Amino acid sequence: MQLEDKRAIITGGAGGIGRATALAFAAEGAKVAVVDLDAAGADAVAGEITADGGEAIALQADVSVEIDIVRVVETTVDTFGGVDVVFNNAGIIVRSTAIDLTAEEWDRVFAVNVRSVFLMCKHVVPVMAADGGGSIVNTGSGWGLTGGANALSYCASKGAVVNMTRALAIDHGPQGIRVNSVNPGDTNTDMLRDEARQLGEDPSTFLADAADRPLGRMGEPGEIAAAVVWLASDASSYVTGTALVVDGGGIA
Ligand SMILES: NC(=O)c1ccc[n+]([C@@H]2O[C@H](COP(=O)([O-])OP(=O)(O)OC[C@H]3O[C@@H](n4cnc5c(N)ncnc54)[C@H](O)[C@@H]3O)[C@@H](O)[C@H]2O)c1
Repeated sequence: MQLEDKRAIITGGAGGIGRATALAFAAEGAKVAVVDLDAAGADAVAGEITADGGEAIALQADVSVEIDIVRVVETTVDTFGGVDVVFNNAGIIVRSTAIDLTAEEWDRVFAVNVRSVFLMCKHVVPVMAADGGGSIVNTGSGWGLTGGANALSYCASKGAVVNMTRALAIDHGPQGIRVNSVNPGDTNTDMLRDEARQLGEDPSTFLADAADRPLGRMGEPGEIAAAVVWLASDASSYVTGTALVVDGGGIA
């Protein structure tokens, strides 16, 4: 098993990519703290893991709030004895240009997508460093590398995640901590359906358009999870600071 006895935190663990990754981590032997704003959703995912004989806890938290992050790290250490892996995956999107976006929307997107990554690293890096190291995977996006239409704050936030990942890798490599970003293209989750709603488009047309790429289809959450398992595991032991694109080709 690729993650035997690793102790992992997954934010946004109730959502499409987060849930798939929590299940994949558990299947590879990890103990998983499933963190989400959605308490019932986090409970359900942790319940799926424990029903299958794995170890998991559910933690309700807003990843943009520092006291929530401190509680998540402390509870995970108290429960599992440490933290070896973090998947910073919680994220939101607002589909607006600069003209239509409000300053409050800009701030919220940056709080959830960027501030959260800083806060988690601030509080988990000392724990990992004291234990000899670990692996942090941050969630960027193809649009964090290329930009995209009608999503100014999202593209800016994901670009920030990609570059802060490089800076974190430089700062904390000497402590044995690897930091990488996974950058999905369109993936079959509620986020895409939410985007269709925001743009006033028919969800099925929107999802069909998402298939317009070399592999001829959008991604499934398990396909992003497989890449995260690799970045989390010792199989990627010499990989840090990288932006791994998982998008069916053609976007980034
Ligand atoms: N689906 C895609 O096409 C796609 C493409 C590129 C990148 N991504 C990124 O992948 C990540 C996961 O997205 P997804 O597609 O699974 O979306 P999703 O909407 O299915 O899941 C997101 C999860 O994050 C949680 N969340 C939101 N705000 C939170 C907060 N403040 N605190 C704690 N949890 C919070 C939500 O409750 C939800 O469970 C996001 O960072 C997203 O930007 C997704």
